[in-house]
Amino acid sequence: MKNKNYNIAIVGLGNIGLYLYEYLIKNKKKINKKTNVTLNIKYVSAKSRSKKRRIKISKNKWLKNYLQASKMKDVDIVVELIGGSEGAAKKLVFNSLKNGKHVVTANKSLISKYGDQLSKLAEKNKVNLEFEAAVAGGVPIIRSLKEGLLANKINKVYGILNGTSNYILSNMRNMNMDFKMVLDKAKKMGYAENNPASDLNGDDVKSKILILSALAFNSFINKKKIEVEGINNVDRIDIKNSEILGYKIKHLGVSELENDKLIQRIHPCLIKKESYISNVNDVFNAIIVEGKPVGKFVIQGEGAGPGATTSALVSDICSILRGNIKFPFSISYFNRKKIDTLDVSNKIFSYYIRLDVLDKKGVLSSITKIMSKNKISVKRLIQNPFKGKKFASIVIVSHKSKNRNIIRCMRQLSRKSFIINKPKFIRIEEF
Ligand SMILES: NC(=O)c1ccc[n+]([C@@H]2O[C@H](COP(=O)([O-])OP(=O)(O)OC[C@H]3O[C@@H](n4cnc5c(N)ncnc54)[C@H](OP(=O)(O)O)[C@@H]3O)[C@@H](O)[C@H]2O)c1
Repeated sequence: MKNKNYNIAIVGLGNIGLYLYEYLIKNKKKINKKTNVTLNIKYVSAKSRSKKRRIKISKNKWLKNYLQASKMKDVDIVVELIGGSEGAAKKLVFNSLKNGKHVVTANKSLISKYGDQLSKLAEKNKVNLEFEAAVAGGVPIIRSLKEGLLANKINKVYGILNGTSNYILSNMRNMNMDFKMVLDKAKKMGYAENNPASDLNGDDVKSKILILSALAFNSFINKKKIEVEGINNVDRIDIKNSEILGYKIKHLGVSELENDKLIQRIHPCLIKKESYISNVNDVFNAIIVEGKPVGKFVIQGEGAGPGATTSALVSDICSILRGNIKFPFSISYFNRKKIDTLDVSNKIFSYYIRLDVLDKKGVLSSITKIMSKNKISVKRLIQNPFKGKKFASIVIVSHKSKNRNIIRCMRQLSRKSFIINKPKFIRIEEF
């Protein structure tokens, strides 16, 4: 077979872009062997041309304006590594697809927001739009859903999808450290960004779950009625309590079909210590897919960082080089469907409840009265007095009840004068 040539433009030379650039230069022969294509990095671009970078890039590769990458006749593939759902990244990806260029991106914000329109455009222009690196870095979950698991009717996808949150929760438990201390350590180690807001408040996982749902259920991206909660409110005491009760706290993204309706939820959970997902620690991501006929499919690996992300980007690039033109969301835009969504209010869970209260007579009976009025019953209760103080912490594991009941119950409890801190609950997830 005749050896072909493909030209690529890399736009964005930050953490990921530079690593990919180096990888492609060093592994040109390897890629040729695997794809029978010679891949040339024809152009690069970033915000600032004059910025000092750790590797030298010859001047003749630099484009004056990043958008030129989408127009140059001698560019076959545009790799977008700018980030963000609007602005430069959006313009570049839309224009590149319009102009018949294949696009590879690691941008979860862009794909979760505009993935439907972009996939329609890619399909119309018969080019690839590849985004393996947008979900769980080096873990090839997108390719698994699109190809390896193609035979299945999937009913649930869930897992640990944010390495920073997982690192923080694992270290709070293993090192007995406070949230803030672990976050500072994570920043020092490069596991958390300087502004880690979207990692900690659940937004990052939300983008990933939106993409995974569309792929797993052959549907359009559906942003309605999603429950999103981060790890900001989990503290060391909750981690200790969960340990005593035989659980670990993990931050999960879950997307599931119930009676053909979609429920998407992102929140911390208590999970039995001995379960598989409880033992996925540090910066690792893990995703579980349940479907028929496969049963349970599990995949795990590093969810972020230049190495893992480059692994996914190169897999996308090689898929294009091998001539695999595929629908970005597995099936044609015109065959994807709208699915109705349900919020979590009718979903049933057991709950871990923590109430910090004044240590006085009658408090416990008031609490149980409010709980029973809201159909929440006690399965297990631990009362920890604060040493030398007139306060106590009451920890309850409840029997199963609807999500809407616990919300109402917490609201009513929070109004009581004997409650000294905002009442807290965490759902207990059974796998
Ligand atoms: N970091 C990770 O571990 C990771 C993992 C998975 C996915 N991702 C995704 O990968 C993408 C890149 O992330 P990153 O960590 O490499 O980001 P980064 O280090 O902040 O790099 C961003 C790059 O984009 C360039 N840029 C910014 N605005 C631009 C504009 N208006 N026009 C042209 N170039 C512009 C910057 O140029 P200058 O260098 O000149 O400032 C920089 O080179 C994001 O979508 C991110 O979500 C990252």
